[in-house]
Amino acid sequence: MTTEFVAQKAASAAANLHEAGLADLVDIRIGDAMATLVRDVPHPIDLILLDASKGLYLDILRLLEPALRQGGLVVSDRADLDGGDGGRASAYLDYLSNPANGYRMAAITTEALGQRFAHDVAVRA
Ligand SMILES: C[S@@+](CC[C@H](N)C(=O)[O-])C[C@H]1O[C@@H](n2cnc3c(N)ncnc32)[C@H](O)[C@@H]1O
Repeated sequence: MTTEFVAQKAASAAANLHEAGLADLVDIRIGDAMATLVRDVPHPIDLILLDASKGLYLDILRLLEPALRQGGLVVSDRADLDGGDGGRASAYLDYLSNPANGYRMAAITTEALGQRFAHDVAVRA
């Protein structure tokens, strides 16, 4: 299951999946993640990959968390970029790094085109 706000981008993703022969494996939901991810959530979830508005990461995680299995992974792209999110991305990182919330977290960095990118990987304990 994946979701995308912009219909044209969702169509490109669908075309790429079709070309790769994987179209029947992916449920693409067009619209705001906070609306598209509330119904028919697969259970259990093995992996949540967050790469959208950084300020929504915590809300999306909390939405999907009930279905995330023990040992399941949460991988997020560039949650360090708080931008105009008013601290909501750092609230996401605080949530994952608080052991009381049941995750073990590691921060990793990748490099491409001369730039460094921060990612966070958390395992549900
Ligand atoms: C940084 S791009 C990454 C897209 C894709 N993962 C990729 O690598 O090509 C972030 C995407 O999240 C989408 N997005 C942002 N907020 C969203 C929301 N609330 N619901 C659904 N999609 C959203 C944007 O339209 C954009 O296509």
